[in-house]
Amino acid sequence: MIEAVNVTKKYNDGNQALKKVSFLIDRGEFVFLVGQSGAGKSTLFKMIIKELVPTSGTLKVFGRDVSRLRGKEVSVLRRNIGIVFQDFRLLEEKTVYDNIAFAMRASGASPREMRKRIPQVLEQVGLKKKVYSRVNELSGGELQRAGIARAISNRPAMIVADEPTGNLDPQTSMDIIKLLRNINVKGTTVLVATHDQQIVDELKKRVIYLEEGRIVGDQEKGAYVRAL
Ligand SMILES: Nc1ncnc2c1ncn2[C@@H]1O[C@H](COP(=O)(O)OP(=O)(O)OP(=O)(O)O)[C@@H](O)[C@H]1O
Ligand SMILES: [Mg+2]
Repeated sequence: MIEAVNVTKKYNDGNQALKKVSFLIDRGEFVFLVGQSGAGKSTLFKMIIKELVPTSGTLKVFGRDVSRLRGKEVSVLRRNIGIVFQDFRLLEEKTVYDNIAFAMRASGASPREMRKRIPQVLEQVGLKKKVYSRVNELSGGELQRAGIARAISNRPAMIVADEPTGNLDPQTSMDIIKLLRNINVKGTTVLVATHDQQIVDELKKRVIYLEEGRIVGDQEKGAYVRAL
C-alpha cells in the first residue's frame, strides 16, 4: 500500500526533514507514526498525498511512484486517501451535511449518491443527530467525528490522520482513535501521526519511530516509548 525506499526530503532552505526513510505498509494495517516535534511526520504525510515530492528515493502509494503521477492521476491518488486533520478543516458556516457533500461533489459523486452515503457515514461515526447542525455549533469531539465522516465518505482505501486528537481531551481522544480502529477493522488502512502516549500504549498497534528525519524503530504491538 505504501512502499518507501530511501526517501529523503530536503526543503529549499537546506533543511533535511527526512533522511533515507524506508518502510513498507501493507493493505489493512493500522500504523502509528511517532516522534518529537520536527521529526518529519507531517512531511512524510504530505508526500503520501503528493503535496510534496521526495528529493531522492522512491515513494510508492497503491503501487505507483508518486513522483511520476501527473495531474489527473494525483486527483485519483487523493480520492483514494481520506485525510483527517488536527484542526478539522471544516467549513465553519456550513452544516455537517454540506461539508461532506462538498467533499463528495469534488470527487464527482452524484446528488443521489450523496443523499444515500452521507447518513451512512454519519451513522458510522455516531453523529447522525447532528447532520443539519452547523459546524460552529459542534464540540471538538463532534468536529473530529465530522472530519472522519468526510474522510471516509468516498470510501478511501487508506486514511492518513496527522495528530487527529491534538485538540481533544483524553477521553474524547480515545473515542476518536477507537473510531479509526473500527474503520480499520472493516478493511481501510489507517496511518496516524500522534504525540498521544495514552492512545498508542492502549491500542498496541504497529509503531514507526521517527527521530530527526530517520526511522529509528518499527515495532509490532509497539508502545509510545520505544522498547530497546
Ligand atoms: N516548508 C518548510 N520549509 C522548511 N522546513 C520545513 C518546512 N516544513 C517543515 N520543515 C522542517 O522540516 C522538519 C520536519 O517538520 P515536520 O513538520 O515534518 O515535523 P513533525 O514531525 O510533523 O513535527 P510536529 O510533531 O511538530 O508536527 C522540521 O525541522 C521543520 O522545521
Ligand atoms: Mg506535524
